[in-house]
Amino acid sequence: MEINVRSGDIFTAEADTLLVFVPQEELSPFAKRVNEALGGWLEDLRANGDFSGKRGESQVLYPRGQMSFQRVILIGIGKREDFDAEAVRRVAAIALQRARQLKAQKVASMTIGTGSGHIALRVAVRAMIEGALLGLYRYTAQKSAPEELSDPEQLLLCVYDDADLTQTQQAAAEGRAYAEGTMLARDLVNMPPNFCTPTYLAEKAQEIGARHSQKVTVLERSQMEALKMGALLAVAQGSEAPPHFIIMEHEPSLAEAGKTLVLVGKGVTFDTGGYSLKPVDNMVGMKADMSGAAAVIAAMQIIGTLEVKRHVVGLVPAADNMVSGRAYRPEDVITASNGKTVEIISTDAEGRLLLADALVYASRYQPAAVVDIATLTGGMAVALGNTAGGVFYTDQKLKESLMSASDDSGERLWPMPIYPEYSKVIESETADIRNSGGSASRMGSAGIGAAFLKHFVDYPAWAHIDMAGVMHNSGDVPYAPGKGGSGYGARLLAQWVANWQD
Ligand code: BES
Ligand code: ZN
Ligand code: ZN
Repeated sequence: MEINVRSGDIFTAEADTLLVFVPQEELSPFAKRVNEALGGWLEDLRANGDFSGKRGESQVLYPRGQMSFQRVILIGIGKREDFDAEAVRRVAAIALQRARQLKAQKVASMTIGTGSGHIALRVAVRAMIEGALLGLYRYTAQKSAPEELSDPEQLLLCVYDDADLTQTQQAAAEGRAYAEGTMLARDLVNMPPNFCTPTYLAEKAQEIGARHSQKVTVLERSQMEALKMGALLAVAQGSEAPPHFIIMEHEPSLAEAGKTLVLVGKGVTFDTGGYSLKPVDNMVGMKADMSGAAAVIAAMQIIGTLEVKRHVVGLVPAADNMVSGRAYRPEDVITASNGKTVEIISTDAEGRLLLADALVYASRYQPAAVVDIATLTGGMAVALGNTAGGVFYTDQKLKESLMSASDDSGERLWPMPIYPEYSKVIESETADIRNSGGSASRMGSAGIGAAFLKHFVDYPAWAHIDMAGVMHNSGDVPYAPGKGGSGYGARLLAQWVANWQD
């Protein structure tokens, strides 16, 4: 869908469909104008209780010559007091979905939330574009005859004031960059595991890097051996699919690029559990175990598109966790790239092994901060459900910057503790540490996972985001339609990088 911005009277806009966002209380000045043009139709609908403006409610009107548009879609935006950027995303998605159902081609709308909603223009426009594009997302790559739905060709965004034109255009472009990042992450997560292999992830990273002048390096098994990445390689050794360690580097040629930020994403392209095999029902869904990798690759794309002026490195350790004669076993002891030995208790606690070697690798950049993101533990989903990721951290400023990026991006995050008790559980008799507390320690497993990762961190500012609960859509968010991958993390991470101050 093309997005164009214009100023001037929207009633003269060339479009077949007009979107009108209607608050639950009093009509907005613009809704009043539409009401007048339609001979009081909106007031009648309200007076008769047929359309109250409740959030998400919609109603189609045919003006029959009273206006130049073929149809008007009313979308309720609810009460003004709790109308924020996230609400903008949601109602924009509902509006465009309705427009698609009606086979609208050219859709015109005023910006939402900037008037009495008091949302800053840039924030509101970006959210509106994100919601509009994300709400139309669907994944049909493996369907031989996908249901034919034609997205509107064009969304024409109208601003009240000429002076707002440039800023609105910029914000719309930003919104598109963020939305396309989320959609890329969704595509990668939704792609079946026989398509989305570690090699595919590496190719995708290379393609994105080439588009945005980012340097992408893909390490092969022999290079990982030379780096002594014994933890990552142990996980990978049971699979025919070769593992890769993907390094994406966004390096603007400016001297003011500041300190380096590193993003790390768990890229398990399928998690069978290995010999600690997952039960049938728990294994389905595990193609999404590379959601962290998808978030990092997609965040790097957004960062590239926005031309962020900072040195940013994305690291993706990618491997399959499979069963075979060569696969690693419980009770094996492996050595990670920082020399620490790890006793394997569960081959299903594989994500932390991949991340261990990647977190060690991150150290070479002397980073200002490192953030990893992973579908690490089922326990995280138990703790917060499918509404928020959890963030474990060693630095208060880093945590706060992530929380504010979460607010800005609409991707929910909640702070979690790393208590010393969690570390006790992973003490080992035979090695330096063990990768899981075993079946006796299901309690607090997300925190235990974080405590494990901390052993591989030698820089002051590190955060670990466990996104196991939010890798799939919850069904409650209009701009995350369907049951597949949510694309969580791409907007959050890119926003965090964009906001970061040394
Ligand atoms: N990929 C899983 C975590 C997961 C579970 C993500 C459900 C999304 C939904 C991870 O590799 C895993 O199996 N973790 C184990 C850790 C345990 C063995 C310490 C878990 O959470 O049970
Ligand atoms: Zn696992
Ligand atoms: Zn896993």
